[in-house]
Amino acid sequence: MAAFTLAHLSDPHLAPLSRPRLSELAGKRALGYLNWTRNRYKYHRREVLDVLVSDLHAQMPDQIAVTGDLVNFALESEFPLAQAWLRTVGPPDQVTAIPGNHDAYVRSTRLRFAESFAEYFGGDGDGPAIFPSLRRRGPLALISLSSAVPSAPFMATGRVGSAQLAALEVLLQSLANEQLFRVLLVHHPLRSANRMKRLTDAPELIALLARHGVELILHGHDHVHSTVWIDGPDRKIPVVGVPSASSIAHGHYPAAAYNVFAVARDGNHWRCDMTVRGVNDALRVREIRQLRLF
Ligand SMILES: [Fe+2]
Ligand SMILES: [Fe+2]
Repeated sequence: MAAFTLAHLSDPHLAPLSRPRLSELAGKRALGYLNWTRNRYKYHRREVLDVLVSDLHAQMPDQIAVTGDLVNFALESEFPLAQAWLRTVGPPDQVTAIPGNHDAYVRSTRLRFAESFAEYFGGDGDGPAIFPSLRRRGPLALISLSSAVPSAPFMATGRVGSAQLAALEVLLQSLANEQLFRVLLVHHPLRSANRMKRLTDAPELIALLARHGVELILHGHDHVHSTVWIDGPDRKIPVVGVPSASSIAHGHYPAAAYNVFAVARDGNHWRCDMTVRGVNDALRVREIRQLRLF
């Protein structure tokens, strides 16, 4: 049986940014905008994102996951730009997108992502698009969580919340007897050394996953390559993060990259091979490494 492929990219932080209205520039946004105009605009580049996505399309993955931070300050003007970009990535039945902290950013826009991208994360069936959502694609069960909550200035924390955790537990119980490769999508990493950027209820989520398990967890937020393993009920679960899809290399941040996971059934087990492809200094995308996760 041919492997089913899932490509994962994250944190495009779409540029260019139109000038915010003065009324939009208060508190956290004013600080964020200052940081963007001084620093971040230099590192998040549309031309980098474009070569990465066109290379991704050339790999012809069966599905694509985008794990948040599509925009920067959740300004009204950023959402149409992000919608247009996501349509170039693919149609909603092939692309699943979840929000990051930058897509919520401040209280007044905390629901804008869900309003703008419902068709890109809504579950199968006719019900309302809410988190957690479930999409069945080939052998995959794509399970989306939202950890995007507004946070105080200088903070980039996330929270899944007790309602989503309870619903996730019910969802995983309902899938327990099916032979599915369960992929959990969440913007924030489950382990973070930085208190200002952490998922505040990660311990509860990790405990839930130790009880019910999934096969793979994908996240963004840290803008670095990362693979850690957490406990599942029968074996360890890989938690894989990718760099920002629009970033040039700077400081300890690597240049933009994405991962492709090839999933196949092998007897009584799943096989999952991961290929990392990234942008080099000449703005070309090449394979960085390949490894078997299990
Ligand atoms: Fe980000
Ligand atoms: Fe983030």
